[in-house]
Amino acid sequence: MRLTPKERAMLAGEQGPGVQKAIEIVVALGRIYGAEELVPVESVQVAGVSYKNLGRAGLGFLHEWAQDDGRVRVPTCLNPAGMDLRRWKELGIDEGFARPQLQVIKAFAAMGIDATCTCTPYHIGQVPSLGAHLAWAESSAVSFANSALGARTNREGGPSALAAAISGRTAKYGLHCEENRLGSVEVVVNCPVEEVADWGALGYLVGKQVQNGVPFFSDLGNRTAGELELVSRPDDSPFSSSLTDRLKALGAAMAASGAVALYHIRGVTPEARAGDMLRPDHTTVVIDSLESGYEALSQGGATTEIDLVWLGCPHASLPQVARLAAFAEGKRFLPDVWITTSRHVRRQAKDAGHVAAIEAAGGEVVADTCVVVAPVGGRYHTMATESAKGACYAPSYLGMDVRYGNWEQLQRVMLTGRWEA
Ligand code: F3S
Repeated sequence: MRLTPKERAMLAGEQGPGVQKAIEIVVALGRIYGAEELVPVESVQVAGVSYKNLGRAGLGFLHEWAQDDGRVRVPTCLNPAGMDLRRWKELGIDEGFARPQLQVIKAFAAMGIDATCTCTPYHIGQVPSLGAHLAWAESSAVSFANSALGARTNREGGPSALAAAISGRTAKYGLHCEENRLGSVEVVVNCPVEEVADWGALGYLVGKQVQNGVPFFSDLGNRTAGELELVSRPDDSPFSSSLTDRLKALGAAMAASGAVALYHIRGVTPEARAGDMLRPDHTTVVIDSLESGYEALSQGGATTEIDLVWLGCPHASLPQVARLAAFAEGKRFLPDVWITTSRHVRRQAKDAGHVAAIEAAGGEVVADTCVVVAPVGGRYHTMATESAKGACYAPSYLGMDVRYGNWEQLQRVMLTGRWEA
């Protein structure tokens, strides 16, 4: 592998043991995957933040690295933690979990990491530039960065993302290389794909078939109502089911049912604006209906009683919080209703009066965490959601029965506590 003099100096320990350990990890990964060189990263997103996944061993690992003078050298943020870092008591999180979780955040902060815990950093101004190399870790964020924004990142693990943040480098392989970014499967969609739940159901069906391929949607722009404007930067206008939220749902679903980290939509996503991005040996998948996706995402027993409605997976944008607030006005929710988001969006929503409206109806705007990474297994048994990723994970991670539906169905559940097919 070709290394620059600066990278060789890091490897020789001239910048301290923390940097040496970081670049050793990056170089080792590069060797495994056949990289010929390293590339500087513009930003990093670290996953494995919840104490539920990290445990005592993970916390010890972070402490050790921080003591070795591991400090990040590029803007770095965190994936959701296991709890709302400020309101954990109100939300019923046990102190025995909260204490080590706060230590995890402290250890990351000691490394110079911004303790913003979100899987949608692009909603809070952390928007990578076109073509920039990144080391992001959470699968839906990776998909959005690669596909909707045209940046370049593999899906990093917790330690490898941290190593990239401390060394400022990642190995150039996989989706960092032009030749691996061409579509391997053309996806032809013959049915309407409108609101967020439709995009999630489509993503679920395509991810199942494509697995870790690169889908190229050749006509999706013609299958959805309204303007599917070109993506340049996330653009959220209040109350719209914006393009950003739809792309986010599509990517999250394909990453959950398969392992898709990059997709293209002809005429829409940045790398597919000029024309086709297909490999000559590509295969074709045809989707005629979303019905089987909706059905497969509703998993579990026959019960119609719902005890949790979960919105905000991936973390909600401000317009998504505003939509729930507008619906909540003057109503009373029967089941628990959680909308999960970043602290930054929660603050904006609070200033706009949305948090008060949702809380008055009995709902919660929960920051820094999500239902999958929080220790809420056992508290809830049945959940309704419009998130295909949440619907994929909740049965196995939380042992919950799930009902997957669109916004209209969820509104009914919030008022009745019952699922109507
Ligand atoms: Fe984000 Fe949690 Fe969903 S990390 S993508 S809200 S499972």
